[in-house]
Amino acid sequence: MPQIFTASADTRLRAGMLLLVLAVLGAGLFIGGYMDSSYATLVGWTRSQPVPFSHQHHVGGLGIDCRYCHTGVETSAEAGLPPTHVCMTCHSQIWTGAPMLAPVRASLATGKPLHWNRVARVPDYVYFNHSIHVARGVPCVTCHGRVDKMPLMRRAHPFQMGWCLDCHRDPGPHLRPPDQVTRMDWSDWDEHPQDHKLYGELMVKAYGIEPSKLDDCNVCHR
Ligand code: HEC
Ligand code: HEC
Ligand code: HEC
Ligand code: HEC
Ligand code: HEC
Repeated sequence: MPQIFTASADTRLRAGMLLLVLAVLGAGLFIGGYMDSSYATLVGWTRSQPVPFSHQHHVGGLGIDCRYCHTGVETSAEAGLPPTHVCMTCHSQIWTGAPMLAPVRASLATGKPLHWNRVARVPDYVYFNHSIHVARGVPCVTCHGRVDKMPLMRRAHPFQMGWCLDCHRDPGPHLRPPDQVTRMDWSDWDEHPQDHKLYGELMVKAYGIEPSKLDDCNVCHR
């Protein structure tokens, strides 16, 4: 039987197929790398804001609790951003003439709210709810990072699906007493990790959390 392919054609075919496989793998790696890169996930990025509001100053320095400004966080899905008059409870007394605060004064005068550029967002097809997380004692810092050390707000986590699911499948180790959720530097358990573990296990039972159901698609896609 005559050879259909010469030896060299066979080699070329093999080389060609190898290249194809490498190209597909490479594209996969490239897209995967892109999806995880900070460029796609926006982790660590700041955005320009009408006023350079500093959480480091107001939370870390002055010790103002998150709930003073993000009033919805315990009761509704949205944490909410503070209306201008909340800033003015202090800034009608301090830094009153500061040019930096001119947009805040203008907003109060005109009644037009400040337009903050959002940093922490999930896509519209994802349902998220703050109040349930806060009620169960999932701390702000777990999802938003050390806000008290941010001169400008940055995103701390990509909020990708896998990240939500990792906790939903085993929430125990992330829980702390609900009255401590806004504390950024809470470390009471650092020397007693066993207590933390025990607390988590107990509370998962006490709250009736069912990790096996918390990763159902319709929990977050409704
Ligand atoms: C409880 C009082 C209080 C509230 C409420 C408050 N601030 Fe301030 N803010 C201060 C004080 C005090 C300083 C001065 C901090 C310093 O210099 O150490 C300050 C400083 C600032 C500065 C100057 C830059 C800096 O961080 O030092 C800006 C800008 C600012 N605040 C914006 C705002 C905005 C916007 C709001 C509302 C969302 C707000 N503040 C709410 C007390 C407050
Ligand atoms: C004095 C008022 C004030 C306090 C206190 C405060 N925040 Fe904020 N927060 C703001 C303002 C104003 C913005 C919008 C501007 C910005 O992004 O910096 C904001 C934005 C945010 C954002 C980003 C929202 C988005 O999607 O853009 C997060 C997350 C956040 N705050 C978390 C916290 C946490 C956690 C605490 C407590 C540890 C806290 N904040 C305390 C006023 C406050
Ligand atoms: C389990 C993770 C998680 C916890 C815990 C959490 N957040 Fe959020 N936060 C998010 C997500 C996700 C978003 C984006 C929501 C969206 O786009 O609808 C967000 C958005 C925000 C925003 C923007 C405004 C809004 O309502 O969407 C603020 C402000 C905020 N969080 C503050 C807080 C504060 C303060 C706490 C603690 C008391 C807290 N968050 C706890 C995940 C969390
Ligand atoms: C660090 C832990 C943690 C992370 C991260 C987390 N969750 Fe949760 N989530 C919980 C806990 C705990 C509950 C309460 C479960 C219960 O009480 O049954 C919950 C409940 C929920 C609920 C309410 C379920 C219901 O039955 O009403 C929704 C919706 C939700 N999470 C969405 C999200 C989304 C979306 C993300 C990611 C952006 C996320 N969660 C990230 C711990 C977490
Ligand atoms: C705990 C919350 C949560 C649960 C449960 C969940 N998702 Fe998601 N899902 C998310 C979030 C958050 C995103 C947005 C990811 C992003 O922006 O990168 C997402 C994105 C998606 C997307 C868009 C493509 C992608 O991967 O970014 C699809 C499709 C999807 N989810 C399907 C599902 C299916 C099917 C299930 C059930 C097996 C499920 N999800 C369960 C939170 C959840």
